[in-house]
Amino acid sequence: MGIALFYTYMPNALDNLVITQPIKIVVLNRKPKAMKTFDSAEWKHYDREHFGRDIKWDSKVYFLKAYSGRKIMGTMELKVEGGVGEIKTLLVKHTMQRQGVGRALVSKAEKITKTNGGHKLFLTTGEGWRAVSFYKAIGFEQTAKLSNHYFSVDFIEMSKFI
Ligand SMILES: CC(C)(COP(=O)(O)OP(=O)(O)OC[C@H]1O[C@@H](n2cnc3c(N)ncnc32)[C@H](O)[C@@H]1OP(=O)(O)O)[C@@H](O)C(=O)NCCC(=O)NCCS
Repeated sequence: MGIALFYTYMPNALDNLVITQPIKIVVLNRKPKAMKTFDSAEWKHYDREHFGRDIKWDSKVYFLKAYSGRKIMGTMELKVEGGVGEIKTLLVKHTMQRQGVGRALVSKAEKITKTNGGHKLFLTTGEGWRAVSFYKAIGFEQTAKLSNHYFSVDFIEMSKFI
């Protein structure tokens, strides 16, 4: 086991360049082309180490709108990457709850994720929030606890294989 690790990591150590200059950091609002080129070359290296092959990190974001006539009833932001759909936000108008809008939006998210070759949906939501009952009712289960998370409130991760 130790020998396998030795052979896995030694090539990286041998390739290391010695840094002789001070390390400076700049914070940017946009990623310039040189950084994109750097990222794609370096991720290629690490993807081979992590996944054992080249990976195409396609990432698509979809904005779903549930509507009737001119009225918006609910919205969702969905990000699909690496075969996984992440429900970034899901919101049903507070006067239109329990009429199937949320279920319809998640069902569409499942279809979009599958169309992209995906196998799983996941999201995070507040522990004990009403949304947890909603997600359980449509087949999600808790897959992680995120203690002291956004605004210091406990959150959970919920997932569903599709
Ligand atoms: C959670 C939310 C998206 C649910 O949307 P919705 O359109 O009201 O839900 P649906 O009508 O599609 O409900 C589908 C099923 O989920 C379950 N469910 C939904 N809301 C529930 C609640 N408050 N309590 C218990 N079960 C609930 C029920 O089983 C329901 O089926 P039924 O009404 O036939 O019994 C909506 O209440 C909402 O926008 N909440 C505020 C924002 C939020 O918390 N978003 C999620 C954070 S990630």
